[in-house]
Amino acid sequence: MKSIFQFIIVLAIVLSSCKKDDELACESEPVTLDETAYELDLGSFPPPMTPEGFQLTTAKVALGRMLFYEEKLSSLNNQSCASCHSQATGFSDINQFSEGSEGNVGDRQAMAVINLAWNNNGFFWDGRSPSLAHQSLQPIISPIEMAESHANVITKLNEIQGYKDQFIRAYGNEEITPLKMGQAMEQFMMTKLKI
Ligand code: HEC
Repeated sequence: MKSIFQFIIVLAIVLSSCKKDDELACESEPVTLDETAYELDLGSFPPPMTPEGFQLTTAKVALGRMLFYEEKLSSLNNQSCASCHSQATGFSDINQFSEGSEGNVGDRQAMAVINLAWNNNGFFWDGRSPSLAHQSLQPIISPIEMAESHANVITKLNEIQGYKDQFIRAYGNEEITPLKMGQAMEQFMMTKLKI
């Protein structure tokens, strides 16, 4: 009799081990590189001019989206890119000047992050940034914006398994670097079209 109870208890433990928090770990496939192409819905627009070998992928776009909405990119963990580039207002800021993570106020308006896939004339109002991958790393270290360091952001993201997994899907390994973050945010922003 006792052994039947023991058997039932063991069975219950085994069955419940795949529930709730462990559900993903039990059911999901191993996390691997996913190079599925992301197709832009271009309407009558011409394809954007991209460097040879450039490919939008669903995994990189998804990672870029996670980063765009990630408040851990800011020093006080209170501001994401979307705080100033709000989807509700065409990925721009309704305020003339945006307030940064630590309350500092800038001196230029946050422009709409829309149709940037076709911009080949520099980014920011003065065109000082050559690419979206480069541009997207600048607000993180700007003292009047997110006021954080790339190294701190990487430390914070490394504590989150979901990010490690998404870097593997996007790039084939879990190493987080500024270059990869910038390229993923570039891909996400390139999908924001108003055509
Ligand atoms: C505190 C508000 C604020 C935050 C946070 C912020 N931005 Fe901006 N963004 C701005 C402002 C202001 C400008 C214009 C700055 C300039 O021209 O010098 C700008 C410009 C840009 C541009 C240039 C668009 C163009 O047409 O040239 C892009 C792209 C952009 N931001 C993306 C991002 C991304 C990605 C993040 C997050 C990593 C981010 N921004 C975080 C306020 C912000």
